[in-house]
Amino acid sequence: MNDQLIIFDTTLRDGEQSPGASMTRDEKLRIARQLERMKVNVIEAGFAAASNGDFEAVHAVAEAIKDSTVCSLARANENDIRRAGEAIRPAASGRIHTFIATSPIHMEKKLRMSPDQVVEQAVRAIGWAREYTGDVEFSAEDAGRSEIDFLCRIFEAVINAGATTINVPDTVGYNVPEQFAETIRTLIERVPNSDKVVWSVHCHNDLGLAVANSLAAVRAGARQVECTVNGLGERAGNASLEEIVMAVRTRKDVFQCDTRIDTTQIVPASKLVSGITGFPVQPNKAIVGANAFAHESGIHQDGVLKHRETYEIMRAEDVGWTTNKLVMGKHSGRNAFRSRLIELGVEIKSEEQLNHAFARFKELADKKHEIFDEDLQALMSDESSEPQEHFRLVASSFHSETGETPNARLTLSVGGKEAKVESNGSGPVDAAFKAIEAVAESGAQLLLYSVNAITTGTDAQGEVTVRLSKEDRVVNGQGADTDIIVASAKAYLNALNKLHSKLERLNPQV
Ligand code: KIV
Ligand code: ZN
Repeated sequence: MNDQLIIFDTTLRDGEQSPGASMTRDEKLRIARQLERMKVNVIEAGFAAASNGDFEAVHAVAEAIKDSTVCSLARANENDIRRAGEAIRPAASGRIHTFIATSPIHMEKKLRMSPDQVVEQAVRAIGWAREYTGDVEFSAEDAGRSEIDFLCRIFEAVINAGATTINVPDTVGYNVPEQFAETIRTLIERVPNSDKVVWSVHCHNDLGLAVANSLAAVRAGARQVECTVNGLGERAGNASLEEIVMAVRTRKDVFQCDTRIDTTQIVPASKLVSGITGFPVQPNKAIVGANAFAHESGIHQDGVLKHRETYEIMRAEDVGWTTNKLVMGKHSGRNAFRSRLIELGVEIKSEEQLNHAFARFKELADKKHEIFDEDLQALMSDESSEPQEHFRLVASSFHSETGETPNARLTLSVGGKEAKVESNGSGPVDAAFKAIEAVAESGAQLLLYSVNAITTGTDAQGEVTVRLSKEDRVVNGQGADTDIIVASAKAYLNALNKLHSKLERLNPQV
């Protein structure tokens, strides 16, 4: 029997620390439910002490999730740990994850604590955490740049104090696979009570090595990997969940362990996270990118048609791709629409939301005769989780002609009142954004604009992401439409609605 590799997902905590990826409580809950469906072992739902909103979100996830352990992060101090303990109280299975930095540079410059003080504080932290749960994880922040002797010392002490998982983070993404594996091997060999805990790794992707380092650590004996959907996370992100899971599954001969993940839920999870955070997935991203299973070259196509395994090491359907399955057309009814959404794992909150989404589906089916699963997913992620949108696109007309200045004419609904506006720009998208700004006067700065095709073909919907920043807030907006200029305007308005919303968007960094 192979060992089990524990998949610890931190999309809702470390992933949320990506610029603009902050989520509302309801959005976190939707993602948590999908992670549970995917059978992730541990869901790190947030950092309870960071804000009341984050506390509420961890608490709500702890109440809702039954089949995965729900975890809160906490610095190694009494207040953080008590907040984390209260937040996970309703969980069927709850974990506290406490951390303190152990590298010389962090201890000296950031914590201003001596190594002895750090060990003492870590041991105290485990004691506080054990008052709430028997499932306590300890992380040595910046372990990747810490001294091995000091790591052995602090890990031995926290295991004696009752830690049950020891996590070794490469916080700044500095390590390389062979050396990181050697660190894990040495720790397991040298820490005298190492057999009492699960060894875990948490790798950042600054050198593009997060997955490689995590997998090397698994070969060296780590049995928990911390990762995120789509590799979301601080800076260059964390190790990507889908890559870890599929590498271990596809190369069981090498890793000698299994996960319990339902891999068919991977692509739906990727789309949900991308839709909610507004972080598009690059087309050539392994496993979940639109081209990950597309064979363009004639030689490859011929080989795959003759015998699939000539060029395919995994099956697209095993990770949840539905191969653009044609699901519906303009004659499909409301019941078929509802059933397909349920099959796709999309949550329908109310009859009102279903009716609204169905009306939009009918509009889309008039423009685009074949509606694929991807279209339905985009349509539903477009359905605002916030009941009242302050800014809404009512009507639009764009003009773009050789030798003429591009122009956009929009009718917007602003707080329920209609406003007509017109603007020129260097292109129709620029004109549309200028027209919206003329009404909204947000003064927000545009940080990112990107367009992706949701499915193939020239009638595919374009999915646009717009990132705006204003004062200390960064938000991502998304919009989808068969007309990419309309999709762009919707994405801009979606981002403005997030800036305007009173709903607290959570981000432990802020
Ligand atoms: O990167 C890191 O060190 C972390 C810890 C809090 C685990 O996210
Ligand atoms: Zn991290």
